[in-house]
Amino acid sequence: MKLVVVGTGYVGLITGACFAEFGYETVCVDKDKSRIDKLKNAKCPFFEPGIDGLLNKHLNDTKLLSFTPSIAEAVEDANVVFITVGTPTKRLENDADLSAVWDVAVELSKHIKDYCVVVTKSTVPVGTTTKLKKIISKKLDLNKFDVVSNPEFLREGSAINDFMRPDRIVLGTESKKSENIMRELYRPLNLIETPIVSTSIETSEVIKYASNSFLATKIGFINQIADLCEKVGANVQDVAKAMGIDKRIGSKFLHAGPGFGGSCFPKDVKAFVNTAYKHDLDFSILDAVMKSNEVRPTNIAQKIIKLKNFKQGNTIALLGLSFKPNTNDVRDSTSIKIAKEFIKKGIKIQTYDPQGMKSAKSILKELILCNSAYEACRSANCVIIATEWNEFRALDLNKIKEKLKDLVIFDLRNIYNPSELEQIGFEYYGVGK
Ligand SMILES: NC(=O)c1ccc[n+]([C@@H]2O[C@H](COP(=O)([O-])OP(=O)(O)OC[C@H]3O[C@@H](n4cnc5c(N)ncnc54)[C@H](O)[C@@H]3O)[C@@H](O)[C@H]2O)c1
Repeated sequence: MKLVVVGTGYVGLITGACFAEFGYETVCVDKDKSRIDKLKNAKCPFFEPGIDGLLNKHLNDTKLLSFTPSIAEAVEDANVVFITVGTPTKRLENDADLSAVWDVAVELSKHIKDYCVVVTKSTVPVGTTTKLKKIISKKLDLNKFDVVSNPEFLREGSAINDFMRPDRIVLGTESKKSENIMRELYRPLNLIETPIVSTSIETSEVIKYASNSFLATKIGFINQIADLCEKVGANVQDVAKAMGIDKRIGSKFLHAGPGFGGSCFPKDVKAFVNTAYKHDLDFSILDAVMKSNEVRPTNIAQKIIKLKNFKQGNTIALLGLSFKPNTNDVRDSTSIKIAKEFIKKGIKIQTYDPQGMKSAKSILKELILCNSAYEACRSANCVIIATEWNEFRALDLNKIKEKLKDLVIFDLRNIYNPSELEQIGFEYYGVGK
């Protein structure tokens, strides 16, 4: 089988590299020529653990992986084409911007020659894959292609492992032929007994949004419980632990913090609420999740400012800019939203992140970038831990103490033990405790 992956972002590149690892000839396409040039030299345009090794192996050794800016060239003899372009929120609406998907559809309609399965792997609102079929069929006979929905559930930071060992594969198909091709494609995962959920295209599209929205709801829920815990002297970590032991609830996604960010949850919850609205439904639960999450970083920043009476001329050490550890992705990062709030008040932000500094600086030029967590703490009035990178979990606290002007720590990820820090002389604030 020859595969084509259109869009070489976090999802597309991992998909391409992992299918090459399974032994398939895979061509990755991107309209961004500079990205393709980098990839041709095995240079990954973003940070993701393990991707460099796979790129090198399959570009240079097995030669199963190749890159091109041309859809026309790539799809000529393709058996399966994955669409993995971005589907961000539209500028002035909560709707998903599908323009990149439609652009690819038009190109595919012009260049597919023999029968081919066209797969939406991007996260797309229900109805998109069927509309994709309509667009392609304007130029291409219906017997020359099938469309399939195969949403992706990988997480940045552990993307390769997630792709290779997924909890499930969801296949939304409308023909036996395309379903069989997709099952054959994922056969390498049979060995590890990955469940395949075969369903309709519409159901598959809903599964992806329902899954992300549910996880976002768990986070939104525990964050509000954390607020209550702070008021009544309870400890949200103990509450979450005891809740999570209950198998009906589960312990994952019950960590209180500064709110969810990143390139998926915020935009997917918005798009899902918008889909409901278009069908005259009121997704009031998700609406509340979205709204409470939107104000959370600002509220946290304001709370810190009020508590310590921070004003113009003060300096804050902010550790972590990426929306989660092990990625340089700063899209919708709560850390940057918090930083913006301080900067508005004339407070200086000295910051360090192992991977996200360059992209963060391009969004917020006022950030003062530092070479280490310790440098960021120099003469600062407090330190805020905003992203739980491993290297922030075991900081040399005595060194931090030497650097800081005031011994105050806001641990927004609850990674430190308050009593240990208090013993060293820190004034410690966690979330929900
Ligand atoms: N990032 C994640 O963790 C994740 C996880 C699961 C699902 N998803 C979904 O996967 C999709 C892709 O996400 P991402 O984070 O990889 O996006 P991304 O923004 O990192 O990458 C998208 C890529 O598509 C390219 N592109 C855009 N239009 C194109 C066109 N017409 N032709 C060729 N290439 C084009 C862009 O140049 C870019 O390189 C989204 O729908 C997202 O919601 C993302």
